[in-house]
Amino acid sequence: MNTQLQAALDKLTARYGDRAADYVEGTAIRREIIYDDYIQTDTLLSLQKPLTDFHDEMTFLVYHQQTELWFRLILHELEYGVEALLEEPANVVVATESAVRANRQFHFLTDSFDILIDGLSTDAFMEFRKAFGTSSGFQSAQFRAIEVLSGLERLSKDEKSEQFYWERAARDMNTGEPTLTLIKFKEKHLHWLNTMYENRKPFSFRLAFDKVLHDKKVAYADLFTATASAELRTLAEELLKLDASIIEWKRSHLRAAAKHLAKAPRGTGETNWAEYLNRSLKEEHYFPELINARKAADQEEEIEGVTLADA
Ligand code: HEM
Repeated sequence: MNTQLQAALDKLTARYGDRAADYVEGTAIRREIIYDDYIQTDTLLSLQKPLTDFHDEMTFLVYHQQTELWFRLILHELEYGVEALLEEPANVVVATESAVRANRQFHFLTDSFDILIDGLSTDAFMEFRKAFGTSSGFQSAQFRAIEVLSGLERLSKDEKSEQFYWERAARDMNTGEPTLTLIKFKEKHLHWLNTMYENRKPFSFRLAFDKVLHDKKVAYADLFTATASAELRTLAEELLKLDASIIEWKRSHLRAAAKHLAKAPRGTGETNWAEYLNRSLKEEHYFPELINARKAADQEEEIEGVTLADA
């Protein structure tokens, strides 16, 4: 028997014992798979169910669906990267590669937003959005998971409890009561998001990186100095890019909202969108310690530059 076949048979025997022969026979009688079987094209193409007859709604729907697929991949990378950092010893190289990939995936999304900005008719959008009721991209659970897995902190509401920043947003402008969009989203997703948050110690990139620095006795301030470990510094730079990637995505998204909602003061999620989305991209950060360390290092370089230039 050829050695490759023998090696495969040995692996099957190790896994299935006596049943290895059945397994081989099963493979021989199984029909040949084709592309569709693997890609699940039929299932995939059965999932686009617009709510109206507006031609442009398909663009809107497919673009959202593809975004959720990319979010899925980004989460896949973030989880892998965090786990690599939690290994003993931490695998910084693997974690860095995951962050690089997540950044690349985010850039793909950010750069493709024109499909929804220029490639969607505002007039049509203003009509078919009426069919969405109170549903909104605000309720994208995967996006919220990406934020938590990266390093989002909950804010304290009072001494006893904390909230995610977005829990404060979708509220009735007059009464301050939560909107239906928020209530429905919280009913379905808040429990597991909170559980993920509470169990994440240190299950986020930010906390896992913090643990690595702590174990290696490296201070944030040391990361951007000439003596810093190249591996840790490269990861730190990628995590800073991840922070920027999420904000850049939010910026592209805001461009879409600004274009199509120019005449609508509220989103379907009932936020005062211009204020909320602007604040969300300006105020939320996922790696504040790294951002501060980088800023301090830049300032120091500037001061040194001035001193050198003056000398
Ligand atoms: C024509 C395109 C789009 C418009 C006009 C739009 C509009 C809005 C508005 C107004 C909000 C604020 C909440 C609300 O009041 O509804 C929002 C939030 C959000 N949307 Fe979109 N959106 C668009 C495309 C997308 C796409 C493609 C996604 C991808 C899943 C998405 C995901 C989100 C997320 C995650 C939030 C929350 C952002 C945050 O909390 O900072 N949106 N969107």
